[in-house]
Amino acid sequence: SKERTLSIIKPDAVAKNVIGQIYQRFEDAGLKIVAAKMKHLSQAEAEGFYAVHKERPFFGELVAFMTSGPVMIQVLEGDNAISKNRDIMGATNPKEAAAGTIRADFAESIDANAVHGSDAPETAAVEIAYFFSSIELN
Ligand code: CMP
Repeated sequence: SKERTLSIIKPDAVAKNVIGQIYQRFEDAGLKIVAAKMKHLSQAEAEGFYAVHKERPFFGELVAFMTSGPVMIQVLEGDNAISKNRDIMGATNPKEAAAGTIRADFAESIDANAVHGSDAPETAAVEIAYFFSSIELN
């Protein structure tokens, strides 16, 4: 069924100048970009976005990395958009990501892993609302 998911192109991929190549992957997979913004996240914004990971040992490094430069944030829409986006992103750890996935092709490490994508319908709704207001969503 038709879904929406929240996608973030992380500071490593923005710095590498591959926003366009990653957008092409979304479009080739049939995912439509229905809202987008570039933003340099504050500490508080990154901590709030990743609040579910607050107790994890990697939380500090995750927030430091996500605030290290601008990110490109978009809402992707399409048939099974949540799982489709996760398929084309590849595994969280780029060393484990399947050939031809975004992380296999553009990511360096588990922190600098190029992209984020919502993992379930409930988190997609929360994550979309975190960055986009209703008038920014058509
Ligand atoms: P992301 O999908 O943005 O969600 C949380 C991020 O934490 C994840 O991608 C990784 O970039 C980062 N991270 C760092 N270490 C780990 C780990 N051991 N397990 C999962 N995520 C990790």
